[in-house]
Amino acid sequence: MAENGVWKEKGHCRQEHLTGQKKIANLYPRSFVRRGKSMEMRFLVESSLSDLAALQSLVVSTLPEVEIFMPHDEEYLSRIFQTEHSVLGVLAGEKLVAYSIIRYPGTGKDNLGQDLNLAEEDLKNLAHLQAIAVHPHFRGYGLQRELAAAHLQVLESSGYEHICCTVSPKNPVSLNNLLSCGFRVRALIPKFAGWWRYILYKGVSRSSDRPKKAESEDEIGIACSNIDGQRELIRKGYEGYSVGKTGENFDLFYRKME
Ligand SMILES: CC(C)(COP(=O)(O)OP(=O)(O)OC[C@H]1O[C@@H](n2cnc3c(N)ncnc32)[C@H](O)[C@@H]1OP(=O)(O)O)[C@@H](O)C(=O)NCCC(=O)NCCS
Repeated sequence: MAENGVWKEKGHCRQEHLTGQKKIANLYPRSFVRRGKSMEMRFLVESSLSDLAALQSLVVSTLPEVEIFMPHDEEYLSRIFQTEHSVLGVLAGEKLVAYSIIRYPGTGKDNLGQDLNLAEEDLKNLAHLQAIAVHPHFRGYGLQRELAAAHLQVLESSGYEHICCTVSPKNPVSLNNLLSCGFRVRALIPKFAGWWRYILYKGVSRSSDRPKKAESEDEIGIACSNIDGQRELIRKGYEGYSVGKTGENFDLFYRKME
């Protein structure tokens, strides 16, 4: 757990968080059935690296547009495996059909909290929901939501209070799933190879001293493809919170934060 900034900073909380993580780890492997298919969710270790890389390649080769999903190289994935509970997988029989990766970015410049102008103290206490992918034959079973919820539980039990992830405006399915897990769109900026990305944020506030923002009733729906319009709304203090479909197009609904 070398990368866990919270434990380094707040030594007295370490034992409590270790116990919390242990309790969560005891819930796995977890079996469940979706539309008659038996599956198992479990934490993966490095011996699953080649299976994960193969699934990632398959997912990338079937993307409708390449910029929807940024793959990670094997060295990067191998580093991720060094931190316990960072990779969750769903298996159908022996076959890996979905995975979720979390990452602790520390205060590095790739910390997504930097894009949201979070304070240094908050950056140390921030984790990324880094990537989720589902085998094309296993889509529509709600596995992204299931994996995201499970990994969010791991992060909450570890004491993380800020969680971020990125989603392409061309990926309304993923956007919808993450918003339904409590994330909100807080920024829309060019990332990686200049590809547009929403920066999603979810706060896990334990402390009553952190004032909660209220969402006003003032709601605006705008096409996900309208980059400038959305950036303008965000600049004015709006946050995206739900996706709607009109014909073939997807709208993101924003509310002003007060
Ligand atoms: C985005 C992704 C993870 C969602 O997978 P998922 O958990 O299976 O998604 P869901 O179960 O919510 O299904 C999404 C919708 O697709 C529909 N769907 C059904 N069968 C489907 C199929 N064979 N292929 C695609 N979508 C299907 C579902 O009905 C569902 O619609 P609904 O919400 O109206 O029911 C998956 O599409 C994927 O791996 N995409 C490529 C990688 C990616 O984009 N990752 C996320 C990066 S942020």
